[in-house]
Amino acid sequence: MTNKACNPFDVTGPVVLISGGASGIGKAIAEAFIRGGAKVLVGSRTMDKVDHAVKELSQLVEPKDGESPAAGVALDVTKDASVDRAVKKAIDTFGRLDVLVNSAGVMLRKPTFDIKPEDFNNIHETHVTGTLRLCQAAGRIMREQHKGCIINIASISSFVDLVEVAAYAAAKNAILGLTRSLANEWAKFGIRANAIAPGFVPTDINRKMIENTDRGRRILEHTPMARFGSAEEIAGGAVYLASPAGSFVNGHTLVIDGGYLASGIGDSFAPWARPEGA
Ligand SMILES: NC(=O)c1ccc[n+]([C@@H]2O[C@H](COP(=O)([O-])OP(=O)(O)OC[C@H]3O[C@@H](n4cnc5c(N)ncnc54)[C@H](OP(=O)(O)O)[C@@H]3O)[C@@H](O)[C@H]2O)c1
Repeated sequence: MTNKACNPFDVTGPVVLISGGASGIGKAIAEAFIRGGAKVLVGSRTMDKVDHAVKELSQLVEPKDGESPAAGVALDVTKDASVDRAVKKAIDTFGRLDVLVNSAGVMLRKPTFDIKPEDFNNIHETHVTGTLRLCQAAGRIMREQHKGCIINIASISSFVDLVEVAAYAAAKNAILGLTRSLANEWAKFGIRANAIAPGFVPTDINRKMIENTDRGRRILEHTPMARFGSAEEIAGGAVYLASPAGSFVNGHTLVIDGGYLASGIGDSFAPWARPEGA
């Protein structure tokens, strides 16, 4: 139950751990939580990048009682010990762990005939097994607290195909299955699990593939809003899911894609679809 008098989007106080939180969508989610009053631990493999992100995140709001709302940790989601260290760091630094955002990700573009089993397994290991690993480690703390919120970053590839990214697509489909399993199994521990499926947002993971490329142009032709999204436009969804406004949302995938999935054959820009006189 939520307190009806409170701001439904209040995220003052929760502690949030974000894998892949030093860049792109993960970093924008970190910013949104910090601006809302949460404390955030961001982690990824490249410590320079993490340090830089923490510096920027720390400057977003005035520190409360001298305590920075942002901290960083070296995190490789493919390694058990690294994941355990990150969860421990959240507890050591901020005293609890309320929200986990799984935003770590890597991309592989290859014709499917050329994908080697090890390529496939590497992608799966980061996106799926890495997500499971963090969910288990963070979930143990959340179960003790009888309170927690997990947000897994899925993709448009969880629903429709984009050629030559089969390993990524398979992993992002698996994220939906994993999210539903967690939602179903862990609700009794006070833990909700949801996913966000972003549309196309130019970041380090895909810039080369979609910025000023034929693929990028075709994506825009199939996006009713006729533009890419920004990481900030994805971040609000994470705040919603973790806030009192999202307290009954469980097992859901929130698609934020400018209408891409709704567009069918993508003819919103065809001559017959233009407003009269345009
Ligand atoms: N951008 C889009 O259009 C889009 C659309 C749909 C879904 N997504 C998903 O959104 C998530 C974030 O991607 P992004 O667009 O923000 O790209 P990004 O800026 O490249 O972020 C991905 C982050 O994951 C980290 N990472 C990679 N492997 C890791 C590992 N083993 N352990 C820990 N961290 C790891 C990377 O940092 P290090 O290299 O330092 O580890 C990087 O900071 C990904 O899951 C991606 O698949 C993106």
